[in-house]
Amino acid sequence: MAEDSSTPVQIAPADGRLGVLCVGLGAVTTTLLAGVELARKGIAEPFGSLTQMGTIRLGKRTDDRSPLVKDFVPLAGLDDLVFAAWDPYPDDAYVSATKAGVLEAHRHLEPIGDFLRGIEPQTAAFDHDYVKRLDGEHVKTGTRREQAEQLRADIRDFREREELDRLVMIWAASTEVYLQPSAVHLDIDAFEQGLDDDDPAIAPSMLYAYAAIMEGVPFANGAPNLTVDAPALAQLAIDKGVPIAGKDFKTGQTLVKTVLAPMFKARMLGVRGWFSSNILGNRDGAVLDDPDNFKSKEVSKLGVLEHVLQPDLYPSLYGDMYHKVRINYYPPRGDDKEGWDNIDLFGWLGYDMQLKVDFLCKDSILAAPLALDLVLFMDLAQRVGMSGIQEWLSFYFKDPQVAPGLYPEHDLFIQLTKLKNTLRHLMGEDTITHLGTEYYEGIPD
Ligand SMILES: NC(=O)c1ccc[n+]([C@@H]2O[C@H](COP(=O)([O-])OP(=O)(O)OC[C@H]3O[C@@H](n4cnc5c(N)ncnc54)[C@H](O)[C@@H]3O)[C@@H](O)[C@H]2O)c1
Repeated sequence: MAEDSSTPVQIAPADGRLGVLCVGLGAVTTTLLAGVELARKGIAEPFGSLTQMGTIRLGKRTDDRSPLVKDFVPLAGLDDLVFAAWDPYPDDAYVSATKAGVLEAHRHLEPIGDFLRGIEPQTAAFDHDYVKRLDGEHVKTGTRREQAEQLRADIRDFREREELDRLVMIWAASTEVYLQPSAVHLDIDAFEQGLDDDDPAIAPSMLYAYAAIMEGVPFANGAPNLTVDAPALAQLAIDKGVPIAGKDFKTGQTLVKTVLAPMFKARMLGVRGWFSSNILGNRDGAVLDDPDNFKSKEVSKLGVLEHVLQPDLYPSLYGDMYHKVRINYYPPRGDDKEGWDNIDLFGWLGYDMQLKVDFLCKDSILAAPLALDLVLFMDLAQRVGMSGIQEWLSFYFKDPQVAPGLYPEHDLFIQLTKLKNTLRHLMGEDTITHLGTEYYEGIPD
């Protein structure tokens, strides 16, 4: 059933050039950049991207209207994207992509070699204490306040140099150590004071986010760092009219988890235990080998089942569930991550069953299209005038950021419905509830 037809929201046009500021020029970012350029040249297709490949049903099923998402909502075109990056290592995008080893050099790097070599990272706001396994020296110096100001200057320079109409920033840099919100993160006055005092509780990712918000640039967080998931920067985003979103791209194992867990709950099948293990050998894996950095990832991955399965509502099904997540650094695999899941479940009368999943995936191949979609949707949100946390983009995140007092929605297909209904609403189309009363006899409308 379709409901709530509304007038379209005013959306500023997507004309002109969109600058994409990438924090981190590692595996995900270089796979994103290369993929966009290869798609622009017609050499490869942007599979995995909802904005590029997806359709959206409009109206009743009998209406037969299913345009491409990118034809339905005014999104920036791939040709209009201009990229810049920061990284504590000086490698350009070609060298970094070669080291990351995700894409085949002959097929997917050489044809766009000049484009990739042209993207050199700016010096990073970096703090070794936040990523102990890295020692890059291509870094900014000075207090946190001074580094934040340098980042703001980088943003303004990029905007002017490339004659950009709009900008978006995305964090695809290393996972920082686990951090719980403390006093300096609780309101913007305390945060500003913390910048002046060079407070070590302000993580580098927060400097980028602060710089973005102050410059009116939407910010999306692809890693599990705290970053904008605390009151100071979340409120600043609202005050400045800037959209923010996070955290942690939902790719391999968690993507699978947020499809399987809703299935168990839909069928009222119980879960006794869920053991998830990963091996991966890229730089991300090396960073996550440090227990403090792994802790950020673990927290982001663990919350999923709790929210989907709702043990409070279903104590006999999920009240005693044992959930464990492990990530093991294993260099021979590079970016080819393997994620195993063993699920001990039970059904009718308590009889036990097992389900095993072995996902041999490619980490950055799964993440790059999410980064692209987030860039385009965050720019859309900005042009609509939406600010603060963009919950409708939960679809892309392992640990979706939500407004205080709300719980996150993790079920992938509820997330997708929410995203598409948001697009329908923005364009003045009926939202879709799937009720379909028009096809039943005797149900009052
Ligand atoms: N499927 C996925 O690949 C996936 C899924 C979810 C989340 N993530 C997250 O995305 C991020 C990027 O993943 P990746 O595989 O590209 O990792 P990567 O190690 O290949 O790249 C990260 C880059 O960030 C740089 N960096 C570190 N600190 C920085 C800082 N303060 N400023 C600027 N750059 C900095 C590093 O030098 C590195 O080049 C990681 O945090 C990862 O956990 C990835």
